[in-house]
Amino acid sequence: MSDKNRVYIFDTTLRDGEQAPGATMTQQEKLEIALALERLGVDIIEAGFPISSKGDFDSVQTVAKNIKNSFVCGLARSIVKDIDAVIDAVKPAKHKRIHIFLATSKIHLEHKFKKNEDEILNMAVAAVKYARKHMDNIEFSPEDASRTDKAFLYRVLEAVIREGATTVNIPDTVGYSTPQEYGAVIAGICNQVPNINKAVISTHCHDDLGLGVANSLAGVVSGARQVECTINGIGERAGNASMEEIVMALRTRQDFFGLSTRINAKEFYRISRLVSKATGFVVPPNKAIVGANAFRHESGIHQDGVLKERRTYEIMNPEDVGVPSHEGLVLGKHSGRHAFKDRLKRLGLQLPETGIDAAFERFKTLADKKKEIYDEDLLAIVEDEETLAKETIRLLDLVYTSGSKIAPKVTVVLDIQGKKVTKQSSGDGPVDACYKAIAAAAKIKAKLLDYTIQSVTQGDDALGEVSIKVSVGGKNVLGRGASTDIIEASAKAYIHAINKVWK
Ligand code: KIV
Ligand code: ZN
Repeated sequence: MSDKNRVYIFDTTLRDGEQAPGATMTQQEKLEIALALERLGVDIIEAGFPISSKGDFDSVQTVAKNIKNSFVCGLARSIVKDIDAVIDAVKPAKHKRIHIFLATSKIHLEHKFKKNEDEILNMAVAAVKYARKHMDNIEFSPEDASRTDKAFLYRVLEAVIREGATTVNIPDTVGYSTPQEYGAVIAGICNQVPNINKAVISTHCHDDLGLGVANSLAGVVSGARQVECTINGIGERAGNASMEEIVMALRTRQDFFGLSTRINAKEFYRISRLVSKATGFVVPPNKAIVGANAFRHESGIHQDGVLKERRTYEIMNPEDVGVPSHEGLVLGKHSGRHAFKDRLKRLGLQLPETGIDAAFERFKTLADKKKEIYDEDLLAIVEDEETLAKETIRLLDLVYTSGSKIAPKVTVVLDIQGKKVTKQSSGDGPVDACYKAIAAAAKIKAKLLDYTIQSVTQGDDALGEVSIKVSVGGKNVLGRGASTDIIEASAKAYIHAINKVWK
């Protein structure tokens, strides 16, 4: 970590991101995201908070066993049992880090801990000293740093660095700071902490005032060289600073920042979808970098400008962040398997040969229904195939009748562990009837908690993508499915969800 113009990317999607209300991910989903983060080129993956639950411990351990190129990090309070849990969980990792935190602001000292500054300083020192016996890569965070008395903040940082902290992270825990103020905090640390040259300064900014990314960048301008962030900006309350926005700001405005990261930005679009699918948080269309409208031009003047010279209205190239081309037909119904496979390869989509066969069949069926097949359609097909490959319950057939004057009736045929099961049901609407029929076939009791539908591409024949949350036996699970038929997309989303808990 020597290059002074390099910014290290610390991803906390699996830890702070998962703290977003309703964002719980399964162990399998966390592993898939960790592998995608590794492909993206993230320097440090914060995989969880091992002491918080057995599930979190296991997830951190699973990530530690499977990630080879990124550091795997676990979070701990300044307590021995938390530190021990991280040491155990990250043990299998090739590169490992512990992240220890302790609140330092007056409001936290008085109300949370009822301790004075010296007692807090001693706790921080003891925690780092203890961790240092087992690990050499130690990050320390004075929680609520941006609201901490500066003199005390400097004392804490100097002390933990003396004990062996190699990164000091400066959280704007409640998203209260402004860019100028946060930049000044980092500049103050650079100037006032005597041994700061022995540690990397990190930013960790929440988005309560919508300033998470701006504050992180102000911190970097003042000398921070690690940024903590999440994919799609998910996280506690309003979320954390969004990785894709920070990285693309540094890259697009290289002339201004003069800094670089090792991120392979072409992976952003895919990983954004993966995180959205795992958490059930739909990416808003106007989200910078990865939103559906981020590279679309509606105004005639803009369209005309882009056609004449793209840079008139585009500051980034959509392909640079992996956003599929919108500009025309990618494949049609006459395209062969070779062209299909080639296109998947160009999009960086990997499937085993059997998966390609199945995806190609799906593509042909879709091409019969839909005139134009775009890259987004291919992504949806491949994601669906990847999901199907892991499912024990599969949809074989779906027939429904519905109308304003007739009661909806749905028949589903499912393959449940190789056995064909057919059920019929009526309901309050075709989706309700469909879900009742599937629940009866799988012999489960489930309650639909949330349902959203989005179109994957534009046009009347677009693929519809349904995202749902269901409660099965008291456990909340998420599902997603895509089809040109919204009842079929709804059925697939439901089957995707119940597969996660079906035994
Ligand atoms: O926001 C925060 O303060 C945190 C710490 C645990 C680093 O997430
Ligand atoms: Zn945080």
